[in-house]
Amino acid sequence: MIDALNRLFRQSFGEAPELVARAPGRVNLIGEHTDYNDGFVLPCAISRQTMVAARRRGDRQVRIVAGDIGGATATFSLSGPILPDSAAPWSNYVRGVADGLIEAGLDLPGADLAIMGNMPQGAGLSSSAALENAAGLALAAMAGRPDLDRTRLALIGQRAEHHFAGCQCGIMDQLVSARAVAGAALLIDCRSLECTAVPLPEGLAVMIVHSGIERGLVDGAYNLRRQQCEAAARHFEVAALRDLAELPPPGQLDPLSYARARHVVGENARTLAAAAALRIGDLGQLGELMAQSHAAMRDDFQITLPAIDALVALLQDAIGGLGGARMTGGGFGGAVVALLPATEVERARSAVLAGYRTPSGGPPLVMIEAPAGGASLI
Ligand code: GLA
Repeated sequence: MIDALNRLFRQSFGEAPELVARAPGRVNLIGEHTDYNDGFVLPCAISRQTMVAARRRGDRQVRIVAGDIGGATATFSLSGPILPDSAAPWSNYVRGVADGLIEAGLDLPGADLAIMGNMPQGAGLSSSAALENAAGLALAAMAGRPDLDRTRLALIGQRAEHHFAGCQCGIMDQLVSARAVAGAALLIDCRSLECTAVPLPEGLAVMIVHSGIERGLVDGAYNLRRQQCEAAARHFEVAALRDLAELPPPGQLDPLSYARARHVVGENARTLAAAAALRIGDLGQLGELMAQSHAAMRDDFQITLPAIDALVALLQDAIGGLGGARMTGGGFGGAVVALLPATEVERARSAVLAGYRTPSGGPPLVMIEAPAGGASLI
């Protein structure tokens, strides 16, 4: 990929780049919609990633070329306010991080940027967080701050989502893409932002199956879930649902917000239990927790789709008590994650290829992932 990126950069800007930054996508093993409730998540970074090649410019202009969107281009200026551009929404992640870095006090020079990635579209594997971190790191490096604190980098990416992309997301995607440790999942306390690496046991495979149902315009449904969780926290008079060890009786809370809270309170406990099970390689327990997580996403949080439920059931069936499967990410399409012994991968893959078709009638994309390290300069 890096050769193609360097070529794109030369063709677009006539010179070689000064530096290249990369940041990985992620798959969440468990802990869904808990991050914005100050709770716990257990994602790992994946080998699929986004790269940004960069070179300083003297005129405070930022010019961007996007290799994955047919060489689309966008330009904006660092002198004066940076605003989102609805005509080139893909560029808003870069605009947003540039704005955030300036707000954080960095003296950004103008830049030429070329972007390229190998993340499947609409899979819910956080290609936008990868772009935010890679672009943020490239710009920070050119401002003389290659060592910018990685938690700070992630918060700047999240701010870009909030202010430039209209998604009130939590911190999971950006933080794991920034701070992941190769070979490990990351247990994140989304209140303190403390990250603890949980190494994956030898012989465990992480399988991702893209349902082929692209996560479309679902920010509205996402933001609504967040509001319902916040309403529940207010009702129970806690700062966030994280503060409930157990779910109290509903009282006057509407049944929908109560069901949302039930998912979140249960999911926080499941995530901590899953991290403990992963540490000792207890795949049976992990599978049980993943099944409970999927059921709660389906029944209480209502973010799965019938085709995704069927895909998960098919995988759970194929894996049996040897591991588990669940939908991963924000929901309404995207990917399913399975944890299973490496020796069972081919059997599970065959079951999926025989039993599931994407909406266009083709076989689904199946990926076997080795957890990657976080954002870096290369
Ligand atoms: C999206 C958001 C994350 C998180 C997940 C659900 O990926 O960006 O912050 O809330 O959904 O767990």
